[in-house]
Order: sequence, then C-alpha cells, then structure tokens
Amino acid sequence: MSDAGFPTFPAGFSFGVATAAYQIEGAVGADGRGESVWDTFCRRPGAIRDGHTGDVADDHYHRWPEDVALMAALGIDTYRFSLAWPRIQPTGSGAVNAAGLDFYDRIVDSLVANGITPMPTLFHWDLPQPLEDAGGWLSRDTAYRFAEFATIAATRLADRVPLWITLNEPFVVTAFGYALGVHAPGRTLLLGALPTAHHQLLGHGLATVALRAAGVRQVAIANNYSPAWPASDSPANVAAAAAYDTLHNRLYTDPLLLGRYPDLAAFGVGAAGLECVRDGDLAIVSAPIDALGVNYYAPTRLSAPADSTLPFSMQPIPGYPLTAFGNPVVPAGLTELLTTLADRYGTRLPPVYVTENGCSFPDEPDAAGQIADADRIDYLDGHIRAVAHAMAAGVDVRGYLVWSLLDNFEWAEGYHQRFGLVHVDYDTLRRTPKASFGWYRDVISAVRAAPG
Ligand code: BGC
Repeated sequence: MSDAGFPTFPAGFSFGVATAAYQIEGAVGADGRGESVWDTFCRRPGAIRDGHTGDVADDHYHRWPEDVALMAALGIDTYRFSLAWPRIQPTGSGAVNAAGLDFYDRIVDSLVANGITPMPTLFHWDLPQPLEDAGGWLSRDTAYRFAEFATIAATRLADRVPLWITLNEPFVVTAFGYALGVHAPGRTLLLGALPTAHHQLLGHGLATVALRAAGVRQVAIANNYSPAWPASDSPANVAAAAAYDTLHNRLYTDPLLLGRYPDLAAFGVGAAGLECVRDGDLAIVSAPIDALGVNYYAPTRLSAPADSTLPFSMQPIPGYPLTAFGNPVVPAGLTELLTTLADRYGTRLPPVYVTENGCSFPDEPDAAGQIADADRIDYLDGHIRAVAHAMAAGVDVRGYLVWSLLDNFEWAEGYHQRFGLVHVDYDTLRRTPKASFGWYRDVISAVRAAPG
C-alpha cells in the first residue's frame, strides 16, 4: 500500500482499468466476426515485431468471466473496454451480427452484477476491412458508417451504460496508421493523412448525435496528450515544440471544444490540408460532450528539424527512469497536461477522466511465481498523485483508469510490451496478478475508506 500522505479523492471519483478489443479478445474468426484492418496488417511481413498477431491475444473472448472476476477482486468502479466493430457489424455497414452484440451484452450484465460501471469505446482502431477498402478514414462516408454503428451498439446497451467514448486517440490513427504506416492500415501519406483527422472528428460528432438519440446520457472522446517541451529556450526549438503541440494536442481538441481547427501554417499546408471540411461540419464536431478522456504516457521533447519533412524533431528526455518501451517516467507531466487543458479551454473544458495511464516493464514471475513489479507501482503511485495535484489546482477530474488490466497485444510491438496489472503467460493464457494488482486494490479501498 502507498506510504503515509497518500492523497484523498472525493466520494464518487472512479478508479478503474482500461483495455481494447483487438488487444485482448483473440477469437478473430469466431461467431461471425468480420475482418479488421489489424487482421490484415498483422499478416503484412515485417509489420509486427516477430510476426505476432492478435489472433489469440488473451483469449478474452472465451475467458472474459475470469477477467471480470479479476476486476471484481480489484474492486474497481469502472471498466473501460472497446467494442469490436467487425464483431458487431462484420462489413462495417448493413447486416448486424447478433452473436457479436450478445457477447458485449453478457459482459455488460456481468460487470453491472459485480458493481462495475461499463465504459465502452466504440472505436479503438479495429476498422472493418471493407470500410478501409472503400477509403477508410480518408473517406467521408466512414464517418456516417461510424454513426450507424454507434446507433446499433447503443440501442442494445445504453440502458446499462451511462458514459460512452466514441473514438480512442484519433491522433494515433492519423499519425501512425495513415501518415507513417507503422500501425494499420499501414499508409505512408505523411501530411496527406490530414483528412483522416477531420473524418474521425466528424464521425465523433455524428456518433454523438446517434448515441444521444439512442438514449445515451453521457458522451466523451479519448484523446492522447503529451506536453511538448522545447529542447532549449531558443526560438527555433520553442517554435518546434509549438508545432508539435498543435499537431498532437490541439488538432483533435480545438475543433471539439472551440469549434475551429488550429492554424497549421507551420506545416506548410495552410487550409488546403483540411479542404475536406464542409460548411456545417464544425458545428457537428463541436456539439457539447459530457466528459473528455485524457490518455497520458509521457511528455515529448522537441527541437528544430534536421530535415524539412516536419517542423520539429523528437529528442530523448534525459534524467528520468525509462519504461521498457523507452518512455520517460514523468508524473509531473500529467499534472502539467491537465492544468494546461484547463487553462487553454477554460469553461469549455468538460469534466475529465484519465482514460489511460500506465507503463510496460518485462515482468516475469520469479522462482516462487511472484511478479514483483515495483517499477509499475512507482509509476502508478506517482501518476495518481499527479492527478490529485491537478485536482488541487482546480481541474475537474472524475476518474483514473490504469492501462491495462492484462498484458496484451501491444500493436506493432506484438506481445513484447507488458502493460498489465495481471501477467498473461502467452503459452498457457494463465493469468497471474502482479504485485501492482494488490497495490492498486489496496489504494482503491483505502481511498474509499477516507474520501476527501
Ligand atoms: C493506446 C493503447 C496502447 C497504449 C500503450 C495507447 O496509445 O490507446 O491501445 O496499448 O497506448 O502503448
């Protein structure tokens, strides 16, 4: 358990964990599920480290009762998970697969029965392949298909699910999926990927309307944010950091909360980069939301570019411990990020949930079968305190969710990065809670016993 002086949190503050469908479910061919862009991408030679795929993952599709039991033992308030679009609507349009909806219906029932509030995300990157074949997020039509999917899912689940998240990290989809090609669908369009930013945000706005029409009470989006630190206070490095801040932190939030895109002049694309924006779109994108999901892992340090492709280049951040993924461990970055959002958006900033925060470490069992992940405990302890600091500074944070419940398929890294509170043996699929699991359980119960 944490040391003396652990912060208090208001009654009603939610602690939880987060996962995503493709990273845990496996069973990619089961019960009528269609293909997603990640199934396709995993088959591309060299795309995923060691040729790993999500075909089996944690086999959560079959083992979910055990995983819900783990969550009940953890004592969490909220479970954030994602609905696999191709499981529910195999081709991304038209026919619904009843077995897919039934799967999530059972999980939602089981969560509710265990006193855990379900928080589904509609899109955590597994776009149905037929939609990608028709242009994916480069196509405006995908936004309309997404809203249709939102209606299907909410019509079935809204009665038991208060808060829905539309998209997870649209920045990563644009940057990694369509600009750099290191994630599905593996396009390398560089700034030509910008229309995917707008079409995802349009999809968010259209889905927001669809969710409310289906009886959903609260709608949010989960963006990832990274404080942009200039490598020095030279004007060139400060400008580089500002450009990165625009791309990573503002491009997906200014339109939502301010109803306008930030100035992209630093990227040399002017308005042309977003000429797909039509009259009326920004009103749809900026329809009020009830909460903002904030995913945070680490800050980014920037200097003036070595070449002219982008107006910044990324630099290592010295002086902090590193996770296995190479992320510097900077809890104060989370406080900085939350207070910056509050300063930047003022009364337009809705209540915030930290919808993801966590770290990967190698984490293997010792001779006695114990997994003593002290570095994860330090990471989580520091970041939960960082949330408390932001709240003390006036930011309205309503919850904190650890990424992730289980070790899982970490996208292009395959199974090499272990983010779980629970270890998964990928040969046997055996789940073993790590020391951080017990620590988090004790934090949650201590916080509940002493609300602030
Ligand atoms: C994503 C997760 C991912 C995590 C750790 C986030 O960007 O939403 O799917 O596993 O980061 O890299």
